[in-house]
Amino acid sequence: MQNQESAVVFDQNRASTYDTRVAKIAPLRDSLHLLTRLILSQLSDEARILCVGVGTGLELIYLAQEFPQWQFTAVDPAIAMLDVCRQKAEECGVASRCTWHEGYLDSLPPSPLFDAATCFLVSHFLMQPEERRNFFNQIASRLRPQGYLVSADLSSDMSTPAYQNLRELWTQMLQYAEFPDEVIQEFLDSHGRNVAILPPHEVESIIASSGFESPVLFMQTLFIHAWYTRRTSLD
Ligand SMILES: C[S@@+](CC[C@H](N)C(=O)[O-])C[C@H]1O[C@@H](n2cnc3c(N)ncnc32)[C@H](O)[C@@H]1O
Repeated sequence: MQNQESAVVFDQNRASTYDTRVAKIAPLRDSLHLLTRLILSQLSDEARILCVGVGTGLELIYLAQEFPQWQFTAVDPAIAMLDVCRQKAEECGVASRCTWHEGYLDSLPPSPLFDAATCFLVSHFLMQPEERRNFFNQIASRLRPQGYLVSADLSSDMSTPAYQNLRELWTQMLQYAEFPDEVIQEFLDSHGRNVAILPPHEVESIIASSGFESPVLFMQTLFIHAWYTRRTSLD
């Protein structure tokens, strides 16, 4: 597997159904978006935001509508996901403030440092802690000192009864969202195999050793944990 490449495929089929499938559970992501908006609200009107693993652009469109002057760079290796994002950005009238990069961070052309980065439901696809550290380090290197990172990932201690309990609720949530049974099973089977489900303190330690201050856990929705932190000023 190449540097940063995830084993989970975001192809045409997944891209075209992504937004519909998460529509019924939109309130779960709405709180993440609202809190991200509040965390980043002190940034200036000229802020430049790096959206890593932007997918179909749910976070980008929301932030672009809340902050009508911010500029966005959308990074995603999955062309089908990025195409959906680009089309939605055009429909919402925010595309002129977006730069698109189909690929991983390591091929993103040099640019002025960003004021903040979002990285939602991406880093857990990197199975090895060292790969994940390298990934966060690459985000840090793109941020100005004290620039913000808001990151959300699946996280849990898989050895605990709490994990098993949450797994049942997670399954109910996916059923409620009308994911097909085989997709639900695929998601569940991916835990620890294609998706690194680490305890929150381990994710925090990876982020904190990748050029960031100690992350603050600001939200948990079932397995989804969200942190914010700032790039250290030291390197
Ligand atoms: C589960 S989707 C999340 C999309 C969006 N951030 C959201 O919250 O709805 C994960 C996205 O991350 C992208 N991705 C996976 N590995 C990546 C990597 N190493 N760097 C950047 N993007 C990656 C995938 O192509 C996919 O579009």
